[in-house]
Amino acid sequence: MKILMVCLGNICRSPLAHGVMQALVETEGLDWVIDSAGTGGWHVGEAPDRRAIAVARRFGVDISGQRAQQLHPRHLDDYDHVLVMDRSNLRHVLAMAQTPEQRARIRLFLDDQEVPDPYYDDGMFEPVYRLVETRCNALLQLWK
Ligand code: 4NP
Repeated sequence: MKILMVCLGNICRSPLAHGVMQALVETEGLDWVIDSAGTGGWHVGEAPDRRAIAVARRFGVDISGQRAQQLHPRHLDDYDHVLVMDRSNLRHVLAMAQTPEQRARIRLFLDDQEVPDPYYDDGMFEPVYRLVETRCNALLQLWK
């Protein structure tokens, strides 16, 4: 199973989803590949936002070694599931898809809900972390 988490900058939401899912599959001993990417390229090569690193660390997950990358069309072939954080991401990623097979792999991480962007609101990092953790646990139960 290969899962790619996608947001706008790849420094806040998708690194959290990446890190939490990675920690869960390691605990379960599953042979899954988890990664993340951003639709935008502004932060390529950077570590996650320090607030995302801090909230994850508080919950026992280390995301400090991640580096941002920009989503590339080949990702849509390389992953079984491309899970996007909000509807704006969804539009951008669907626009990149060129085949029905690629389109079928792309969906909202929360199914019918968006993960709010915490970038401009320090107080949102913990609620976002909790949302992400709950959903990652549910996905693990669903797909393992
Ligand atoms: P993310 O948050 O998409 O969850 O990584 C953002 C990070 C950076 C920017 C916007 C959102 N930005 O505009 O640089």
